[in-house]
Amino acid sequence: MIGYSEKVIEHFKNPRNAGVIDDADGIGEIGDKNCGDLLRVFIKVAQDVVTDVKYQIRGCGAAIACASAMTELAIGKHIEDAMMLSEDDIVEALDGLPEIKLHCSNLGAAGLRKAIMDYFGKTLTKERSNEI
Ligand code: FES
Repeated sequence: MIGYSEKVIEHFKNPRNAGVIDDADGIGEIGDKNCGDLLRVFIKVAQDVVTDVKYQIRGCGAAIACASAMTELAIGKHIEDAMMLSEDDIVEALDGLPEIKLHCSNLGAAGLRKAIMDYFGKTLTKERSNEI
């Protein structure tokens, strides 16, 4: 592999939290139009804490490692802190990525943010329908 850290290789070989959450509170989908990689992120939220994150991915080894690391960083965080997780946080958690693969971290972070936005949208809709 092209200069990957041991952590990247380990996450790629043993991806954490891969799969689907059937009753997800939020779902985010993101793709990279340049390479064609796709990521779908599922989240569960309880009392403003992200209690579970899973994902499906069709992507390169770095994207898989980034999605895996993203779940470990997000689970247990307050929803607002999870929203602030950045591409840099993911790269740092993996002890870096080769320059040419830095964009792969975008999928994990953006997919999580989209799932959280979906959760906020659904929560708002529920609150509004309760007011009516
Ligand atoms: Fe597409 Fe890695 S090459 S996300």
